[in-house]
Amino acid sequence: MPVSASFSRDVEPGWLSRYRFGLRVTEQGRVVSIGDGIAWIKGLPSAAMDEILNLEDGSRALVFHLEEELLGAILLQQSPALSAGVLVYRSGERLGIGVGDALLGRVIDPLGAPLDGGVTPECDGRRELDVLSPPILARDFVEQPLYTGNKIIDTVIPIGKGQRQLIIGDNGVGKSSLALDTVINQKGKNVYCVYVAIGQKRSSVINILEVLRETGAFTHTTLVVAEATAMPGLKYLAPFAGCAVAEGWMWQGKDVLVVYDDLTTHARTYRELSLLLRRPPGREAYPGDIFYLHSRLLERSTRLAPVHGGGSMTALPLVETEQGEIAAYIPTNLVSITDGQVYLDQNLFASGFLPAIDITKSVSRIGGKAQHPRIKEEAGRMKLDYLQFLELELFTRFGSQLEASMEAKIRRGRALREIFRQERLAPLPIEFQLAWMVAYNEGLFDVLATSAIPACLNRLAQRVAQCPLTLASSREEWRQAVAAWMKETPIT
Ligand SMILES: Nc1ncnc2c1ncn2[C@@H]1O[C@H](COP(=O)(O)OP(=O)(O)OP(=O)(O)O)[C@@H](O)[C@H]1O
Ligand SMILES: [Mg+2]
Repeated sequence: MPVSASFSRDVEPGWLSRYRFGLRVTEQGRVVSIGDGIAWIKGLPSAAMDEILNLEDGSRALVFHLEEELLGAILLQQSPALSAGVLVYRSGERLGIGVGDALLGRVIDPLGAPLDGGVTPECDGRRELDVLSPPILARDFVEQPLYTGNKIIDTVIPIGKGQRQLIIGDNGVGKSSLALDTVINQKGKNVYCVYVAIGQKRSSVINILEVLRETGAFTHTTLVVAEATAMPGLKYLAPFAGCAVAEGWMWQGKDVLVVYDDLTTHARTYRELSLLLRRPPGREAYPGDIFYLHSRLLERSTRLAPVHGGGSMTALPLVETEQGEIAAYIPTNLVSITDGQVYLDQNLFASGFLPAIDITKSVSRIGGKAQHPRIKEEAGRMKLDYLQFLELELFTRFGSQLEASMEAKIRRGRALREIFRQERLAPLPIEFQLAWMVAYNEGLFDVLATSAIPACLNRLAQRVAQCPLTLASSREEWRQAVAAWMKETPIT
């Protein structure tokens, strides 16, 4: 073991008189080889997993893999002078990130450094990136709703504060748009947001940033970015960094929403690192602990018990499928870890049904408990109608003759499908969701032609915004109000 004597200097005045002579032993290793964001190092026998290593040339690395002779480290910062033979020192520290309100409206990298050209955020404290999830006793039930502003999700696939809801679908079917809309909808609702962009193109990141700025959602949001060109180590750390930032607020008793966009890229980065570190590959060449990687990340999202401040962290992980294959390795892992999924379908997207949410394959396992009873009551009836309609519609494709009652059901279903359509960047208040569901369940849309529905919904949204009724108002009050509004809409 190479040993060196080092003299640590105290910069305070009078350090010389307090200095104690003695032999200090520090370990010193050497880089054996580097490449692809990985460094193999020899000669640090006491180095521990997840410890930060400082390299002589100013680079930094994280211990990621231990062998008898060598250790594998992922590079976090790489200087141009880094080469084999460079000396390496242990820091005895684990990775952490600054947390606090100073991060709102900022773009940072997974190590907390600003990427928006601004000054380094002055944080209230630091949190380690990889910590244990809160114990069961520190947790509470998910019983408050988190509104996404989306007609389908808020009514039939509801999300509660502290829930982990997967957004799953092929590439380009609107996953990021849905997550962004949810972030935008938290404006004025006292929910802090963290958007983690993992391995995305710079143009996509700029797009996200612009949308957040234009909609005024950036004031309550932190964007954590590890671009596609970033070192694999940073892409691997990005979701943990976002989670740590969110945890900072959660433990202060605040409600937080964190979006991981997306975990497929994260899994691929982890696979890349693991293969470079010669870990044995398993299914689809992913290492055996890929399930543990994502479960330990998502288990940190929860709702805390009142004694711990009652904060919550809701997670929206995104995962990409290929050809709608929901049963592939990473998607099934994530489906089983999360509390439900919103499935976006390529065929629905191609047919112009946007957002392309497939209700039959989407589920929220715990959100129902958090849903307001009035919304739940209306949504229950409506969902049943819609599922029946989807089945009936299949039959009509064969051109079979239908009874009048069936035809009526199909007409109602088609109207509902028209209602479900929603533009991007247009989150809707929950009172409006209640209003249109009451109108639908009362059959007030049945008399309208499909083409008249969008205009009618616009009018309804305006009326709801002006009326004093709330979710606490009785159904009869809502029914009367909605009936009056629907009558004034010109029927075409
Ligand atoms: N509700 C919507 N209304 C209209 N257009 C939409 C809607 N949702 C998504 N889009 C459009 O669909 C396209 C793909 O959306 P988005 O980038 O969110 O998909 P994605 O699944 O995140 O893609 P990727 O897999 O590339 O990350 C975008 O051009 C977006 O504007
Ligand atoms: Mg996307």
